[in-house]
Amino acid sequence: MTQPTEIAPATGKLGVLTPGMGAVATTFISGVLAARKGYTEPTGSLTQMAHIRLGKRTEGRNPLIKDFVPLAGLDDLEFGGWDPYSDDAYAAAMKAGVLDPRHVEGIGDELRAVRPMPAVFSSRWVKNLHGMDHVKDGGKSHMDMAESLMEDIDVFRSEKQTDRLVAVWCGSTEAYEDPSEVHAELSVFEKGLKESHEAITPSQIYAYALLKMGVPFANGAPNLTVDIPAMVELAAQEGVPIVGKDFKTGQTLMKTMIAPGLKSRMLGIRGWFSTNILGNRDGEVLDDPESFRSKEVSKLGVLEHILQPDLYPSLYGDVYHKVRINYYPPKGDDKEGWDHIDIFGWMGYPMQIKVDFLCKDSILAAPLVLDLALFMDLAARAGKSGIQEWLSFYFKSPQVAEGLYPENDLFIQHTKLKNNLRHMMGEDLITHLGTEYYDES
Ligand SMILES: NC(=O)c1ccc[n+]([C@@H]2O[C@H](COP(=O)([O-])OP(=O)(O)OC[C@H]3O[C@@H](n4cnc5c(N)ncnc54)[C@H](O)[C@@H]3O)[C@@H](O)[C@H]2O)c1
Repeated sequence: MTQPTEIAPATGKLGVLTPGMGAVATTFISGVLAARKGYTEPTGSLTQMAHIRLGKRTEGRNPLIKDFVPLAGLDDLEFGGWDPYSDDAYAAAMKAGVLDPRHVEGIGDELRAVRPMPAVFSSRWVKNLHGMDHVKDGGKSHMDMAESLMEDIDVFRSEKQTDRLVAVWCGSTEAYEDPSEVHAELSVFEKGLKESHEAITPSQIYAYALLKMGVPFANGAPNLTVDIPAMVELAAQEGVPIVGKDFKTGQTLMKTMIAPGLKSRMLGIRGWFSTNILGNRDGEVLDDPESFRSKEVSKLGVLEHILQPDLYPSLYGDVYHKVRINYYPPKGDDKEGWDHIDIFGWMGYPMQIKVDFLCKDSILAAPLVLDLALFMDLAARAGKSGIQEWLSFYFKSPQVAEGLYPENDLFIQHTKLKNNLRHMMGEDLITHLGTEYYDES
């Protein structure tokens, strides 16, 4: 056994701030409110439903994760956020069309009480949104915007009487841009904020404000946001945890389940064609090639890191990997994702796998927002700061320290997460060696 980490208790209220209050954020809030009232179970959430084995298999110790580590309870959560549309969470949820109105009837008043604060927004970075009515004055500098966000955070904190805050980016995907010199160092970034440098995105202005206020930040979109040296530096300076990026749901979730399985059996792959149709606002934003590029980059890296073509050139050295997202309004939030996988086995004989996943994007993403909020709050109370690699499990493109490749295999990520919890609580790590049951001495 190791020494348990000192963890401050989860007393009082935890405010969960979501920049972006669209489909994912409102589905998350609705589910928590409904679960509080016993209308539904928090299906898909590890923090609420998963057990964790402690010690040997013979010991029979399998507590729920939420009973093992000190997490904020669902009743202790307060919700807030920002959006360029002024709709309250009820109206936004109805527009998003994920949930059946019957399922939000009993929580309508609570949802209506969650109103977004005016957003820092620029159509330079998100093109396909129109008719916004709730945006901060664009004439001010980026630094003024950050300060205005800090005031919002203060007001939220005192109005809701929260003890701690955590932020999960649920805003639209911003246009792709490679990091530039303004992102390389905190001092340069701060100068860039004052001069409204054109390469600084709205999501980075939020992240700056939140980290400055000591609020842990998880990034659910593929934007670089906190995945730049300046933010890593800021997180270290302020002692705040950061994590990202891009919630792992839908097709990539399937990919990171199937690819490790094929690789574990040393089956070869010639090609993997993935295409999707979806019709929600996220799909509309991703219809813009620049926003799609951010998504594409985040989705394409997954196979490369799992399959390790350098180690296995004959099996995975020449995989043709293509990812397509098509905006198709009639589908709404009900995404359909097809995967066509060309594999080969013994003596090179070809085989095919076809996957047709009729999923609901926001239904898969909502429990991730909850888990990330609770685990990031835990990380902060445990004194952790900087990149939280143990939460890679939740991301398509996990943020890691410079020079490291990310771990994308869902099952390794799961083991990593649980071993980190064991380690935090001073329990033995589970190595799956198994020999201890057969020792003769
Ligand atoms: N649903 C999933 O399975 C999934 C998976 C991975 C990543 N994501 C990402 O999560 C994000 C949210 O997805 P969604 O389906 O809720 O999309 P959505 O379009 O329904 O919601 C996004 C919200 O962000 C708002 N927004 C845009 N720019 C903003 C800004 N600068 N400040 C504050 N708010 C802003 C939009 O007005 C909108 O209400 C997207 O970036 C999406 O790519 C979603």
